[in-house]
Amino acid sequence: MLRLRRRLRFLEVAMRKQLLRQYVIPVMLPIDVVFSKDAGDKKKELSKSGEPSKPSEPNKPSESSKAGKPSAPGKPNAPSEPSKPSKPGEPSKPIEAKKDGGKQGDKPPAAPKPAEKKSTQPRIKTFDIYRWHPGGKPKIQKYQLDLNKCGSMVLDALIKIKNEMDGTLTFRRSCREGICGSCAMNIDGINTLACIQPIESNLGKPCKIYPLPHLYVLRDLVPDLTRFYDQYRQIEPWLQRKDANRKIGEKQYLQAVEDRTLLDGLYECILCACCQTACPSYWWNSDKYLGPAILMQAFRWVIDSRDEATEKRLNYLSDPWKLYRCHTILNCTNTCPKNLNPAKAIIQLKQMLVGMKKKAKAKL
Ligand code: SF4
Ligand code: SF4
Ligand code: FES
Repeated sequence: MLRLRRRLRFLEVAMRKQLLRQYVIPVMLPIDVVFSKDAGDKKKELSKSGEPSKPSEPNKPSESSKAGKPSAPGKPNAPSEPSKPSKPGEPSKPIEAKKDGGKQGDKPPAAPKPAEKKSTQPRIKTFDIYRWHPGGKPKIQKYQLDLNKCGSMVLDALIKIKNEMDGTLTFRRSCREGICGSCAMNIDGINTLACIQPIESNLGKPCKIYPLPHLYVLRDLVPDLTRFYDQYRQIEPWLQRKDANRKIGEKQYLQAVEDRTLLDGLYECILCACCQTACPSYWWNSDKYLGPAILMQAFRWVIDSRDEATEKRLNYLSDPWKLYRCHTILNCTNTCPKNLNPAKAIIQLKQMLVGMKKKAKAKL
């Protein structure tokens, strides 16, 4: 009986020691030691095998660490560098985490993938371009380009043709990113901006490029926009105030954020005239009807909270031709390369003219 008790007592003590080593001692270690790679590896090993570590290993510095040497790779639980206190004034070194668990040397580096070869087959696309012919009828001239050697937009193709094939080809362009509106033309039947219009990848179908329709042509793809700008001038597209005595530049005209948001979808118009020249009413009555681009700008100034010439502006449009030639066919909205909605602006102008809609009161 006595022997049995001694045996039990011995087992109890042994188990306590075991628990102490397994859980308490690691907790008492400095935090950087516990989370250093070696300690982490040991933890993993423990969780995998379920075996406790050897009693002296977790907190006993190895011989090499005592001497300040880095521990040999593969030796677990050697708290070498991290537990070493840094000299006063010397910033302690951060522990460098090894991304691959220190096994980088074991694996050979992955062989680089062979670069994908681009198709060397030429991709020939035909461009049918309207050419002005002084003293004769205009004609369509064909140009063939290898799309592998050309940018992706229609304007890139036009520039390539002009630079390398035919320097006489004439067209307007400036910004090359849909901001200036100068490269507006009719491409495959749609009024749009050549610089943001991708070349269609169907090689069997020629890309047809014409100037904006129903305008006089100055040369090749350059239309005469004199009337368009005259009409723009008619709506007086500038801020008008009643306090005429106020000195210009003396004080700012403030605008509330809510009032400013009313101009969204209007101020972005770049006056490219794509909508204007897609409007059937404008085709037939361009001398009297102002057209969608100009009317949208008129609306932009009518609803501007800082502008005080609202009545005068509306009166100017109150005419059977200037505004009411719009029959809400929506060609203008469909073609706008900036995704604006001139037809909606025209409808709102009509509503204001008949009193269905009022200008919002300025918040500032
Ligand atoms: S909605 Fe009016 S402005 Fe627009 S295309 Fe039709 S008629 Fe012209
Ligand atoms: S509304 Fe659109 S298509 Fe018309 S002029 Fe402005 S940006 Fe061009
Ligand atoms: S080049 Fe400016 S909009 Fe196309």
